Order: sequence, then structure tokens, then C-alpha cells
Amino acid sequence: MARTPADLVGAQPDPPFEITFDGRPVVVLPGQTVAAALWGAGILAWRTTRGGGRPRGAFCGIGQCFDCLATVNGVPGRRACLVPAQPGDVITTQEGHGHDRLGA
Ligand code: FES
Repeated sequence: MARTPADLVGAQPDPPFEITFDGRPVVVLPGQTVAAALWGAGILAWRTTRGGGRPRGAFCGIGQCFDCLATVNGVPGRRACLVPAQPGDVITTQEGHGHDRLGA
């Protein structure tokens, strides 16, 4: 049986909790960012580009590239690689710059 890094260091993390991505439940380990939680669930893209609507997700993972922008609890433009996931967070795919429905 494979051992996890948490097993190897004897960590005793708090219990997992749940967020949703486009209505789908996603299990989060305490301390994970939104991007880490989505990756852990096999979700690799949560934004589309303004030009062409191409899929994007995390690229740098350290807050430098802005590829990971997501809509978190109704607020667009959040860098998912920097936002700690909180129980009950509602993450939705961000279309373009996140204000398309406003016609901005
Ligand atoms: S993945 Fe580059 S800013 Fe988040």
C-alpha cells in the first residue's frame, strides 16, 4: 500500500471538507488551495480565455501567471493557486474576464 507524504511525517490533519465546482462536490484536505483541491479531484481547467475561449487552469502554481483565475463565491478573477479553500466554497468556471454577463 502506497504511503502518502502526510503518513511519512506522522501528520494528523483535521478532517477533509467539501467545496463545489460547477455544482460538483470536491473533497478538500485542510490547507489545500482551491487549485490544489481541483487538481486533486482531476479537474485541470476552470477558466476560458477571452480570445478563443480556450481552457486554462493552474500553470505556475505560485501566483505569477494568472492562468488559474476562477470565480470563487461569485467573485471572478481570484487566483485559485493562492486562495485557501474553505468549507462550502462555491467555485465556478470563469468565462473570459469574469464579467461577460455584465457586457463589460
Ligand atoms: S497558477 Fe499561476 S497565478 Fe495561479
